[in-house]
Amino acid sequence: MGILGEGLSHYQKQGFCSFHTPGHKGRQEFFNGLDFLGFDLTELPGLDMLHSPSGIIAEAQKRAAGIFGAEETFFLINGGTVGNQVMFLAMEDTSFKRVVVERCSHRSVMSALVISGLKPDYVMPTIHPDFHLPLGFEVEKQQIPWQEISACHVTYPSYYGAAFDLNQLLDERMRLGFRTPILVDQAHGSHYLGPLFPPSALKLGADLVLHSTHKTLSALTQSAMLHVQGQRVSRPHLRQCLELLQSSSPSYLLLASLERAGEFALDFGRWECLQEEVEDLHRKVGKSFRILSQKDVGTYGIHTVDWSKILINTLGLGISAPRCVEYLRERFGIEPELWDEENVLFMLGIGNTPEDVRWLTKGLECLADFAPSIDFAESKKNVGNDRFRTPPMPHLVLSPRDAFLARKRQIPLRDSLGCIVGETISPYPPGIPLIVMGEEMTYEVLNTLLIGRERRWQGWDGFESQTIWIVEEG
Ligand SMILES: Cc1ncc(COP(=O)(O)O)c(C=O)c1O
Repeated sequence: MGILGEGLSHYQKQGFCSFHTPGHKGRQEFFNGLDFLGFDLTELPGLDMLHSPSGIIAEAQKRAAGIFGAEETFFLINGGTVGNQVMFLAMEDTSFKRVVVERCSHRSVMSALVISGLKPDYVMPTIHPDFHLPLGFEVEKQQIPWQEISACHVTYPSYYGAAFDLNQLLDERMRLGFRTPILVDQAHGSHYLGPLFPPSALKLGADLVLHSTHKTLSALTQSAMLHVQGQRVSRPHLRQCLELLQSSSPSYLLLASLERAGEFALDFGRWECLQEEVEDLHRKVGKSFRILSQKDVGTYGIHTVDWSKILINTLGLGISAPRCVEYLRERFGIEPELWDEENVLFMLGIGNTPEDVRWLTKGLECLADFAPSIDFAESKKNVGNDRFRTPPMPHLVLSPRDAFLARKRQIPLRDSLGCIVGETISPYPPGIPLIVMGEEMTYEVLNTLLIGRERRWQGWDGFESQTIWIVEEG
């Protein structure tokens, strides 16, 4: 079968209970009627064309726009990643060449900066003192330079389900009378429809909104949607950018799964029964773990919390998050979406069942009960020591594009303090860059990299040899 196929088959046989993407959770019901081999087709007569649709793709996109409340919707087959890239590239008024971006955005946003050449005006979300994660964003503290930027890009909600007050940002733009497009990465909130979830960015009035439809809804991995409304962004230019960056051989399986995901997104009953179970989980284990919840709304820049993302901090138990994950995986076959040293994120998707959530509750209850007796000696040693935390934002010296194009050399990591870094390095997941190319290496970032041997990194070419690319100066 080949090493890759065998790896997948081995993983599948372990039968983990999924609290991670994709949102369909492997349930056949979302794909009934889709013939995986038979439908793996190309742009043949009658099958329309993704890059200039006028037939079945155009019709399916129109229906999706209706479902999600957009004026126009584009199906993406290169993930939410291409959505962020297209949003930046499509900014027509690049006379300012600057864009407001959250420094804790996903790495695809950083790649969008390289591709578009726009210079970031970084704003820093608030780091939550209990979770040590960027969960909120205080609009009034940001001082957005509206008169000098081509666009303002924000993430709503964060990976962890908490969201800032997007409405306040939109109001501020209106109050000050600017036409600056507001671009929203709603990768983790495609399911924001109906009464159970916070309002979608489209409903609030954002101009371009990205959904990673595969993360929480039922679309196949790598399929996403870009929604548009209003006149602030040129549609013909947007279409050109999509054509420029997307594959010329779109997978019809991905496209068909997007269409189906839209239909299933309206089945609110699937989420309703999960919500009840999540409330029960909070009641049963809320005292053992610090869990992000509705009680956090109104604090540290958090305006809404999505109950379908269960973020727990394990430090109350005196156990590191990786040890908790080990316990849950081994004893309960529970697979979370991500974890760091002290937090674990369990992500629900439309394919989860109430039994899944009950199983998670049981796993967490047992973890809390048995914690003192489990041999977590090593884990306890780590708690309170050099934990991985979001370090202060490094100083930006070059734009990501200038740093990307600059001459570079590789040096030992330990010698890089004060150098302009030539690569974007992110712990993955969540993919939020620790350092972006063009930034100056700080003591805190360096220290985090030096102690990060056990983490999974993306974009760090010299991880094995503990070297790093830096920009040649002078
Ligand atoms: C906030 C955010 N935006 C965009 C992306 C990119 O989406 P995709 O993985 O669909 O390319 C991710 C991926 O994790 C993300 O977390």
